[in-house]
Amino acid sequence: MVKYFPDGAYAVAVVGTASGIGRATALFLAKQGVLVGCLDRDTAGNEATAKAIRDGGGKAVAAHCDVTEDATIVPALDTVERAFGRLDGLVNCAGITGRTNIQGHQVDVADFDLVYRVNLRGAMLLSIAALPRMLARDYGRVLHVASIAGKEGNAGMAAYSATKAGLIGLVKSLGKDYATTGVTINALAPAVVRTPMVDALPEAQVTYMTDKIPMRRCGELDEVAHMIAWIVSPACSFSTGFTFDLSGGRATY
Ligand SMILES: NC(=O)c1ccc[n+]([C@@H]2O[C@H](COP(=O)([O-])OP(=O)(O)OC[C@H]3O[C@@H](n4cnc5c(N)ncnc54)[C@H](O)[C@@H]3O)[C@@H](O)[C@H]2O)c1
Repeated sequence: MVKYFPDGAYAVAVVGTASGIGRATALFLAKQGVLVGCLDRDTAGNEATAKAIRDGGGKAVAAHCDVTEDATIVPALDTVERAFGRLDGLVNCAGITGRTNIQGHQVDVADFDLVYRVNLRGAMLLSIAALPRMLARDYGRVLHVASIAGKEGNAGMAAYSATKAGLIGLVKSLGKDYATTGVTINALAPAVVRTPMVDALPEAQVTYMTDKIPMRRCGELDEVAHMIAWIVSPACSFSTGFTFDLSGGRATY
């Protein structure tokens, strides 16, 4: 396996580690020798991921973090910094789709607001909490998981597409804010990866999305974790404000 990190001297907080991409990323980073902070609103699932890492010989600490509850964010990052004495990276995988397979006029504004609070406002709050810690050491890697839906707009997913587009814009702006420092801020735009989030979508919505992938398959969790690991490693040092593609050829820009 390619090693991206120094053993035991690199700490990354991963948000959304109870499930799917966040969980796979946390497990992969731990295998790379990274000290992993597991953050999620789902405390039981989150602690299970941290335990799986420790059972496998890795180092992990779990902290409750609901990105829609402002007061939980700073203490969660404090827990990670206290446990490991440093915070080198933040990977934000917390996200929800809200209601899908509906037309724009059918969007329920309360649902839209919740999707916004998790996918975009939550990313802003996490950035506000993490960046000063990284700037103090002039080193950091921030990665927010956006979506191909934010680049292209998926029919049936107005709230999701709009908030992921907003996240891509946020990353473009933050990348420029800190471009002359050692802190990079990037995004990742996956197409479809089979996780509990996708399994919960209406089948028509999943078919719509997978039919658009030129490689005619979904992404694998291992493919996502590898790319995330590289982006938050020291090796990825000349890219900031960028949205990396992981779409099996759907996005060529
Ligand atoms: N799976 C895909 O095909 C796909 C494609 C593109 C983008 N994404 C994005 O990747 C990220 C991870 O998605 P996934 O497929 O692993 O989903 P998932 O539902 O399997 O996992 C999402 C995790 O985020 C956590 N979470 C949700 N709301 C939260 C909150 N308010 N505070 C803290 N944690 C919260 C959940 O508890 C869960 O553990 C999301 O941002 C999603 O939009 C996924």
